[in-house]
Amino acid sequence: MSLALIWAQTPTGIIGRDGTLPWHVPEDMAHFRELTRGHPVLMGRATWESLPPRFRPLPGRDNIVLTRSPELVAPGALVAHGIDEALRLAGDRETWVIGGGAVYAALLPRADRVEVTVVSLDVGGDTRAPALDRATWRRSAVDPDHGWHVSSAGGTRYRFETYLRA
Ligand SMILES: NC(=O)c1ccc[n+]([C@@H]2O[C@H](COP(=O)([O-])OP(=O)(O)OC[C@H]3O[C@@H](n4cnc5c(N)ncnc54)[C@H](OP(=O)(O)O)[C@@H]3O)[C@@H](O)[C@H]2O)c1
Repeated sequence: MSLALIWAQTPTGIIGRDGTLPWHVPEDMAHFRELTRGHPVLMGRATWESLPPRFRPLPGRDNIVLTRSPELVAPGALVAHGIDEALRLAGDRETWVIGGGAVYAALLPRADRVEVTVVSLDVGGDTRAPALDRATWRRSAVDPDHGWHVSSAGGTRYRFETYLRA
């Protein structure tokens, strides 16, 4: 299997605040859909609960929700009670880890690729992306080559970065 992580963060590594995303960049959501569509997506229970009910499960993808609770019911999703069980459910397929902070940290050691959207905002939050150790992770692509894209919704600046295991 190949295992990739995908997140959006501020330049200082914030990915969430009060159970949600502290920005709205529709171009990043389109990028997320394009990369993950057709593949299993693996997420923590808190991220599952943060999805608006009308987008749950994320369509066109097997949704796998990690929880330690034997009671969680996640209609339309598969539930896994540990990392190994989640990876078994994903099987031999290209699999995307879609958050949040706890699950990124747990799965980064098993990943071979990370897709980061850097959102150029100075906002606070309570959830962080794990640090990408430059001895382990090599930035292999950045889009655009220089500077930033500008979102049509509110003018937020952002760029896409791809990291591969060195
Ligand atoms: N910027 C982005 O790209 C992005 C993407 C996704 C999410 N987010 C944000 O991140 C925040 C949520 O992240 P979070 O760290 O609080 O929560 P999370 O990682 O989404 O979920 C944590 C929960 O997942 C379960 N879990 C985690 N590791 C497990 C393991 N090894 N085995 C079994 N279950 C496990 C536990 O559920 P139980 O408590 O049920 O046992 C745990 O409480 C939200 O603000 C969300 O908006 C941001």
